[in-house]
Amino acid sequence: MKKTVIYGASFTAFILIACQPTAQKAAVSEKKEEEKKIQVKKEKKKNLAERFKIALANQDKWQKACSNPDQIVPKGIDVETFRKEMMATVKFPEGGVIGKDIKRGEKLFGDPDKGGRSRRGNCYACHCGDPRILACGNIGPSLRGYAKRGIDPKDTYIRIYNSWAIVPCSVMPRLGYHGVLTPEEIADIVAYMHDPESPLNK
Ligand code: HEC
Repeated sequence: MKKTVIYGASFTAFILIACQPTAQKAAVSEKKEEEKKIQVKKEKKKNLAERFKIALANQDKWQKACSNPDQIVPKGIDVETFRKEMMATVKFPEGGVIGKDIKRGEKLFGDPDKGGRSRRGNCYACHCGDPRILACGNIGPSLRGYAKRGIDPKDTYIRIYNSWAIVPCSVMPRLGYHGVLTPEEIADIVAYMHDPESPLNK
């Protein structure tokens, strides 16, 4: 009995000693992994800071004017001139402001098959619309029943192309101005929004 205990104890000690280098190695490689992760994080932060610097350097004067904590047009800036200059940036598609591909417009607005997600339009981030899309934002007004409001499709187009032509310094992204959406894609969104048969208007 005593012998068994002694054997058992020395066996355990042997295992402990034998395994130590492996355990140490594991700890070292874990530490290395951790350091690598921290390095990657640092790089990412640096890149973001760089990108931010570049974006700041490339701001147009209107972006500069709107980059204030309240995101409002600062005193001394003439709102009408602001609107006019923004309006001058709006390019219209050859086929007119109402596109032909309503389905594409719907997908760009927010794909109902993907819970309303859309990588470029992403309207549901700020607006509600199709009643089937429950996860919708309220930063902007609801667009449910939009076609019934009698808004000129041209104004809808301008709003999506460059929202600042209507509401200077709006938080609504200037999707055409920044080249996120092409004029034809915006026209398809307009078609979807103004179609009385689209789920947005039902
Ligand atoms: C980051 C938030 C945000 C996103 C994303 C966004 N909007 Fe807006 N939108 C707003 C806000 C805020 C307003 C209210 C007026 C303003 O500030 O421009 C608005 C207003 C509007 C209006 C006018 C509504 C009215 O009642 O007159 C329309 C139309 C519109 N948005 C369409 C769209 C479409 C289409 C998309 C997607 C392509 C979109 N918005 C994406 C924030 C957003």
